[in-house]
Amino acid sequence: MSKQRLEGKVAIITGAASGIGEAAARIFAAHGALVVIADIQDELGASVVASIGPDKCKYKHCDVRSEKEVEKLVGFAIKAYGRLDIMFSNAGISEKLTSTILDVDFDVLDNVIAVNVRGVAATIKHAGRAMVASGTRGSIICTASIAATRGGHGAAVYAASKHAVVGLVRSAAAELGRHGIRANCVSPGSVATPIVQKLTEMSQSQAEEFSEGTMVLKGGGPLKASDIGEAALFLASDESAFVTGQNLIVDGGVTAVGAIPPVPAAQVKSNGAF
Ligand SMILES: NC(=O)c1ccc[n+]([C@@H]2O[C@H](COP(=O)([O-])OP(=O)(O)OC[C@H]3O[C@@H](n4cnc5c(N)ncnc54)[C@H](O)[C@@H]3O)[C@@H](O)[C@H]2O)c1
Repeated sequence: MSKQRLEGKVAIITGAASGIGEAAARIFAAHGALVVIADIQDELGASVVASIGPDKCKYKHCDVRSEKEVEKLVGFAIKAYGRLDIMFSNAGISEKLTSTILDVDFDVLDNVIAVNVRGVAATIKHAGRAMVASGTRGSIICTASIAATRGGHGAAVYAASKHAVVGLVRSAAAELGRHGIRANCVSPGSVATPIVQKLTEMSQSQAEEFSEGTMVLKGGGPLKASDIGEAALFLASDESAFVTGQNLIVDGGVTAVGAIPPVPAAQVKSNGAF
């Protein structure tokens, strides 16, 4: 059996009924954590619990737009499992990725900000309070995006909300560090989860092909939800004990070097230089 990297730890994952959150729940549980799966899709959440095993996780309905529900979620985890070590604040939504700044619908904007910014702030606040009160050197991880670093990787409101997530996390790292609590972001590139399929109207295979096509790093297939879950596992575990205030981008090189066209072999000299 592989090393249990989260043995004895308790984690909450929001948006864990689907996609990246679900993949992270499976990985965290496989590494020995007790996991509270929080979401608004109750049936799907219950089915994730049944498939991981009710001895390793529990489901709790939580709409992250409601601070009260987030506070109750943290209380639920502590009542069920006695402590809280990891908050993976992952729930997120977007407006249609095909919409532009010229079409901003302000009801949609309010909802995206309510989930992606208000929801993340509430999870940091209440997980942070519980960790401070119990003296737990916890890890808070928030899902941002490649849209948190550059424009043009998503719709404008989504990009604004994800830039805000990075700001919240850096400030949380500054303010919670004195309590031994770490705060980091994980920023996925394009992963073929329901959010992407819904917002782009691509099929699963089209979304996977798109993901693979965007990446500079070739040969590994499309970026998967489990690749983001593994990065979150690193940030949740003691292996990242001195990593805080960071935005770990998992995008096959898109943000660092941009999408580069393939170089014709004739232009590459024998030493690999252009
Ligand atoms: N898939 C991608 O390409 C991609 C890229 C960058 C960032 N992200 C981010 O990753 C995170 C997870 O998205 P995903 O790709 O797994 O999509 P997903 O749609 O599969 O999962 C998102 C989950 O969040 C839940 N959710 C939505 N609103 C909620 C609310 N108000 N309260 C609680 N839960 C709520 C949904 O029910 C769903 O289960 C999001 O923050 C998203 O912005 C995704």
